[in-house]
Amino acid sequence: MASDDVVLPGTEVVLFDDKAAVAQAAADTILAAADAAIARHGRFRLCLAGGTTPTAAYALLADADADWSRWWIYHGDERCLPITDPERNSLAADQVWLNRVPVLPGQVFAIPAELGAEAAADAYEPLVAAALPFDLVLLGMGEDGHTASLFPGRKVPADRLAMPVHEAPKPPPDRVSLTTRALSQSEQLLILVTGSGKADAIRGWSAGEPLPVAQVATAAQSRVLVDRAAAAGLI
Ligand code: 6PG
Repeated sequence: MASDDVVLPGTEVVLFDDKAAVAQAAADTILAAADAAIARHGRFRLCLAGGTTPTAAYALLADADADWSRWWIYHGDERCLPITDPERNSLAADQVWLNRVPVLPGQVFAIPAELGAEAAADAYEPLVAAALPFDLVLLGMGEDGHTASLFPGRKVPADRLAMPVHEAPKPPPDRVSLTTRALSQSEQLLILVTGSGKADAIRGWSAGEPLPVAQVATAAQSRVLVDRAAAAGLI
């Protein structure tokens, strides 16, 4: 769908009618990226988004036919909660998708956030270093323009790939996040934004506000899939 009215600096924007259309397009894009990466270098290195927006796309991937043994799965951020806590990003992806397809357990890398933010970031750092560059990084956006667990006004160390986060404005307060440096080392970024709650942040992004999602998006080749509700202030 034409999206000339929605301009987000440094990104390609594709506008969809609703969340379901965004989810389908996201699943299709991920599967196409997987085919291309496997053809190019024998594996698909995918970094997942947390939150609720991507779960509809994950559910579609659960029914897809793919060469799952070639998929290597990482997470862009994780909440410091017990591994069985329903609010864990990794649990959501496992339940709707990864437990339903034959990905190899040794190729799915959850962030060990149950260890605490510092220990988990230190443990995940070398795994990310060994994975880079990603073939696709999937991201969401919060109502304040955060992405992964990179929140407005927070310093992001330039010399780290994974970082501890405390006092996050979006609960839970303690998290682990990949940094801009890690998230931007990817063949492509795919950013999913749906729902009227994101309209203010989309407007700010379009107006050039230095939101975390904008800073990450301009650091790599980015495509934003947005629905009409989130783009309401611009169309
Ligand atoms: C998290 C996510 C976070 C999320 C946005 C959007 O752990 O909360 O990683 O960055 O992507 O907050 O969340 P929704 O998709 O639930 O709106």
